[in-house]
Amino acid sequence: MNYSTLLFLLSLVSLSLFSSNMSAQPDFKPNYDENKVPAYTLPNPLVFENGDAVKNQADWQQRRTEILQLFSSQVYGKTPSQSLDLRTKTLSTNQKVLGGKATRKEVRVFFTEQGTRPYMDILLFVPNGNNRPAPAFLGLNFYGNHTIHPDSSITLSDQWMRANEDFGIVDHRATEASRGVRVPRWPVETIIDRGYALATVYCGDIDPDKNDFQDGVHPIFYQANQQEPTNDEWGTIGAWAWGLSRALDHLQTEDAVNGDQIAVIGHSRLGKAALWAGAQDKRFAMVISNNSGCGGAALSRRAYGETVGRINHAFPHWFCDNFEQYNKNESSLPVDQHMLLALIAPRPLYVASAEEDEWADPKGEFLSAAHATPVYELLGKSGLPTTKFPPVDQPVTGTIGYHIRSGGHDINSYDWQQYLNFADQHFTTESP
Ligand code: GCU
Repeated sequence: MNYSTLLFLLSLVSLSLFSSNMSAQPDFKPNYDENKVPAYTLPNPLVFENGDAVKNQADWQQRRTEILQLFSSQVYGKTPSQSLDLRTKTLSTNQKVLGGKATRKEVRVFFTEQGTRPYMDILLFVPNGNNRPAPAFLGLNFYGNHTIHPDSSITLSDQWMRANEDFGIVDHRATEASRGVRVPRWPVETIIDRGYALATVYCGDIDPDKNDFQDGVHPIFYQANQQEPTNDEWGTIGAWAWGLSRALDHLQTEDAVNGDQIAVIGHSRLGKAALWAGAQDKRFAMVISNNSGCGGAALSRRAYGETVGRINHAFPHWFCDNFEQYNKNESSLPVDQHMLLALIAPRPLYVASAEEDEWADPKGEFLSAAHATPVYELLGKSGLPTTKFPPVDQPVTGTIGYHIRSGGHDINSYDWQQYLNFADQHFTTESP
């Protein structure tokens, strides 16, 4: 081979390397065209991996374990089974807030012996004068407990946060200007007036929302010399879900709260966490997913709006590394998100979408609830009472509730009204 042939061959090799590199660049352009949704077959929650049918409730308990393991190893990562000795400290109590209608408490839950981070602060409002312990809503928040209510005595979070100068988060820290910025998402007084307690925790207390596994609760569970979760171990959503269960541990010790009637609720990424928490922890008596979208209530196989590939690319820390195998390859997932919803059966579940929130695939969220219904029915519950996509602002409710609200990606008073109605319906007539 002469020198110029060699050069020519080398240039071909480098050209092909370059082009394969180019094609390896992620291309996650979202599809918003219903006609371009790929044909797909959903895995059947009522058929075991070995092809056997689930025939009765006892079979379902086994199938449930199988599905839970698949979500653990392939999607969210395994939650550590080791339990910790949690210590709590009451930071503040005020028995007369909201004009005397409620008691407000802040409780710090330490995850380690040292009394240093990681710890989480639970902000709790309980109605005064209920003649019974109050049913409660528990949800994580995005920017600190002090953002959900303007009261200046709520502890200002000093934990890392995603930058958002509009919300008074400067250099990743909350400033006084961030007090109350999330009030529209948390109608505290309405919740109290309806007889419910409300508990919230800043998600970053459990694990800051960044691709870093040295902070948050992950390191507590590392083996010697471990630096990050292994391929099938939990990501950030898994940690948030775990934190919700730890908050539930505490709420079940609060006399004024009915520990058997706690609804776990979350919006968007925190809705994904609420679903995963509710799927794993049967003590949550109700689960509410608000606009949770991809990796939440929406079916992955529809690949509409945000996709598995796109979410793993943009938020590599949310799921376990095994989930990346399904980037642009959703059909090989052994589960889909309707099975996550089915894990919540027979407990009441509410899934909500918003009309302009195409990124979260409203139809995929609805279909997921519809496809979870056979499991509810097997367990003697109604599931979602329709297979027809309802019109905007017309909730449908059985043991599964669904609405598509007019407007965009958000959780607002309309959403909360439906959740309060749904809780009234189930916590009075179907109390455990
Ligand atoms: C992004 C992300 C969604 C997520 C949302 C949110 O849009 O792609 O998956 O639900 O943020 O948490 O607000």
